[in-house]
Amino acid sequence: MVWSSMRSKWVWLCVLLLLADFAAGQVVQDGLLNNGDFETPPSGGFSSSSAALGDGPSTIPGWKSNGTVELIESGQKQGGMILIVPQGRHAVRLGNDAEISQEVRVEKGSIYSVTFAAARTCAQLESLNVSVLPSGASQTIDLQTVYSVQGWDSYAWAFQAGEGDNGGATVAFKNPGMEDDPTCGPIIDDVAIKKLFAPDKPKDNAVVNGDFEEGAWMFRNESLGILLPTNLDEETSSLPGWIVESNRAVRYIDSYHFAVPQGKRAIELLSGKEGIISQMVETKANKPYQLSFSLGHAGDSCKQPLAVMAFAGDQAQNIHYTPNSNSTFQTADVNFTAKAERTRIAFFSVYYNTRSDDMSSLCGPVVDDVRVALSMGKRNVFGSFQLVVGLGLALCCFVLV
Ligand SMILES: *[C@@H]1O[C@H](CO)[C@@H](O)[C@H](O)[C@H]1NC(C)=O
Ligand SMILES: *[C@@H]1O[C@H](CO)[C@@H](O)[C@H](O)[C@H]1NC(C)=O
Ligand SMILES: *[C@@H]1O[C@H](CO)[C@@H](O)[C@H](O)[C@H]1NC(C)=O
Ligand SMILES: *[C@@H]1O[C@H](CO)[C@@H](O)[C@H](O)[C@H]1NC(C)=O
Ligand SMILES: *[C@@H]1O[C@H](CO)[C@@H](O)[C@H](O)[C@H]1NC(C)=O
Repeated sequence: MVWSSMRSKWVWLCVLLLLADFAAGQVVQDGLLNNGDFETPPSGGFSSSSAALGDGPSTIPGWKSNGTVELIESGQKQGGMILIVPQGRHAVRLGNDAEISQEVRVEKGSIYSVTFAAARTCAQLESLNVSVLPSGASQTIDLQTVYSVQGWDSYAWAFQAGEGDNGGATVAFKNPGMEDDPTCGPIIDDVAIKKLFAPDKPKDNAVVNGDFEEGAWMFRNESLGILLPTNLDEETSSLPGWIVESNRAVRYIDSYHFAVPQGKRAIELLSGKEGIISQMVETKANKPYQLSFSLGHAGDSCKQPLAVMAFAGDQAQNIHYTPNSNSTFQTADVNFTAKAERTRIAFFSVYYNTRSDDMSSLCGPVVDDVRVALSMGKRNVFGSFQLVVGLGLALCCFVLV
């Protein structure tokens, strides 16, 4: 009797757990958020008079807003200036202190990267505060530097779904500014999300995600790449394994629109010394290592010369891009002796490059396929090969004699 009641309790517990599982299901899918492109018409249709939307809870389908949030249409003018709509026909503009947010179902402990397109409207300093509640992580993204001549850029920001998030997280974009002109304020479009995976650590390479294949969401038809702004926390990086330790962004590029040395993704270094990616890799103290990587041209009319500064432990090497005739990349290496259990590797562009076609978009050298391996191994293989050949020769001589 006691046994059977115990058993039925267990059965019930299982059923409850299953139900809870179902309720918690439907986690957000990779890709565009609900109306993330702001192309779904509001209940009253898109207003051609571009009237500012009120504080109503869901004036923009799928989103909550607070403050002056305005749906704008491509071609719409403001003070003689045509407003930029990054994709499609519509986007939103955030007025002073205004915010839009959307709740997404997430898995506790997982890392998510949010990709969004942003543009500024007026000449003033503009920025966007991207945050997630309830965990409270946030980052203010400076929109002062426009990296592409189109006048807008895509950015990525990552967060970890915390214990407190209880399956739901509210992703919010807020304009922290207080401009005199309330019609100023950043424009947002194309908001997407992607659950990131920790890439496997390859056996013969100490670098995590050295091929840059795992990272922020990119639309297949996204042609400008994704800017990865400063992020010192390697646990929550839109580029797993790597940090962007400079105050300027680096660009995450894809092989559909850029020349990428290997696979589908790579990093284009922008803004000279102000765009640095780095990683602490596991090493054994006092052992010789080789850092190797591909150094390329993105095929984006970037004006040469291109060069990177590559760091590995206490070694630094300036490497110029000089590929063989037809290739868009070359391989380069830096030899170093590890001094500790962890060694920093880092890259920045030696020059400040711009594109030769528009003279203003920032560009730079491409880095891909980064490896750090013990250089002992190679020498040993070579050594034993020599030994075998040597022995073989000796045997031949012996037989001949
Ligand atoms: C709207 O924003 C204001 C100012 O930032 C804030 O005080 C208020 O609590 C917000 N309202 C909601 C419903 O979030
Ligand atoms: C950004 O927003 C979050 C959440 O609203 C807030 O906690 C944080 O202080 C804000 N950061 C800045 C720099 O305004
Ligand atoms: C890019 O693709 C998305 C989704 O497939 C689509 O909604 C959008 O209109 C496309 N943008 C361009 C510029 O083709
Ligand atoms: C360079 O590419 C062209 C056209 O693809 C080809 O005809 C030529 O043989 C290539 N040259 C070398 C050195 O690979
Ligand atoms: C690193 O060492 C390897 C041999 O282990 C050598 O072939 C290579 O040229 C060295 N690289 C540099 C940049 O000195």
